Amino acid sequence: MSSLIADRARRTTTPQRLAGWVDRFAALDERPGEPGVTRRGYTRLEREAHRIFADEMVALGLAVRVDEAGNTIAELRGSRPELGAVGTGSHLDSVPNGGRFDGVAGVVAALEAARSIVEAGGTNERTLRFVAFAGEEGARFGQACTGSRAVAGLLETGALSALVDADGITLGEAMTAVGLAPEGIHQAGWDAADWDTFIELHIEQGSVLAEAGMPIGIVDVISGSTRFTIDVVGRASHTGGTPMRLRADALTTASAIILAAEELANDARHHGTRITVGRIDVAPGSITTIAGRCTLHVDVRDTDSTRQRESAAELVELARHIAASRGTSIEVTLLADASPAILPVSTRNHLVATAADLGLPYRVMPSGASHDTQMVNHVCKGGMIFVPSLNGGVSHSPDEDTAFDDLAIGVDLLTAALTALAVPKRPEDIA
Ligand code: GLV
Ligand code: MN
Ligand code: MN
Repeated sequence: MSSLIADRARRTTTPQRLAGWVDRFAALDERPGEPGVTRRGYTRLEREAHRIFADEMVALGLAVRVDEAGNTIAELRGSRPELGAVGTGSHLDSVPNGGRFDGVAGVVAALEAARSIVEAGGTNERTLRFVAFAGEEGARFGQACTGSRAVAGLLETGALSALVDADGITLGEAMTAVGLAPEGIHQAGWDAADWDTFIELHIEQGSVLAEAGMPIGIVDVISGSTRFTIDVVGRASHTGGTPMRLRADALTTASAIILAAEELANDARHHGTRITVGRIDVAPGSITTIAGRCTLHVDVRDTDSTRQRESAAELVELARHIAASRGTSIEVTLLADASPAILPVSTRNHLVATAADLGLPYRVMPSGASHDTQMVNHVCKGGMIFVPSLNGGVSHSPDEDTAFDDLAIGVDLLTAALTALAVPKRPEDIA
């Protein structure tokens, strides 16, 4: 599929260089010997990955800064900065035992786009920025897109103490421990007047492109997510001494809630809603004690913002009834809530026109996953390029894979799209 297209298109990106970068980042792994890559947000290894990104950008001659949220921003100043900057980038953290491409693909794309643009010489009228965001994955603190939330001015300062990881470390403590200064987090906000467009390249994390033999996806809408915990409160007691009829078992209640969540998402009214309980903490967690408390970590995703919130509310109501019918109760805590983002049609049209110019077939499609662009889209015009995922589109898994030839095609498109925006030729590009 890809090689035919690759021959037709104007190729500038070398797949081998991309592979070298991806390998380099994959080596920064908290759990060597375990499957996949583990590089959680706001850890020493995530910062190390940011340093590699920064060093390369400095070597290319760009000005680099790290903001209060840990985002690394490299800048190639334009001759007309008043036009607003054009940017690209993605994230360098991973989920536990995740893949090598989620986030990294977009950062590597930014590195190689910067190299191509610098090596091509000439003048960029708009300032160009290349960004590695920190803490995009919600896996550690529940809330996704921490770094990009901060640049969009959407990170509440309360989150620094309210969000806690599985080891009891708050987001603020984690940031401080890696040398950041989260008390100044509000200073990380981007000024909308200083920005024009941000385009992120990401792996699809689904199988649509590979199954259709399409090299490029152009995203029109990014799913939102509502995340919360349901604490099921029962009564811990002896597994031998407590008759079945006298139990208030938090774990069997939790199981019924999980199945109800699946049923809810599968019913006709919620076609397209995705509800997942991806983590459950059981206390006291003993084979000889009936569970007294279970914490379910729930993630509701949708491209329809009303249905997203209504599904979450409906599930909470269902959970209350299920718990009451089993002699238990629930407590609900909201972790994070992000609306779906409809990306501007002007950015999409620019990507479509650029893909057509390069002879690249594309498909306009929604994103099921969250992305930093969802947050950045609050500041300036957002756009996203997807490249195909292999292995059935599996992601957040060690089996995540993307062909470097396909990634190179995506980087070519990104580079061409950025270049065209950075040197506006028509009056409407400046508007
Ligand atoms: C980010 O990877 C997400 O969870 O969608
Ligand atoms: Mn990602
Ligand atoms: Mn991810």
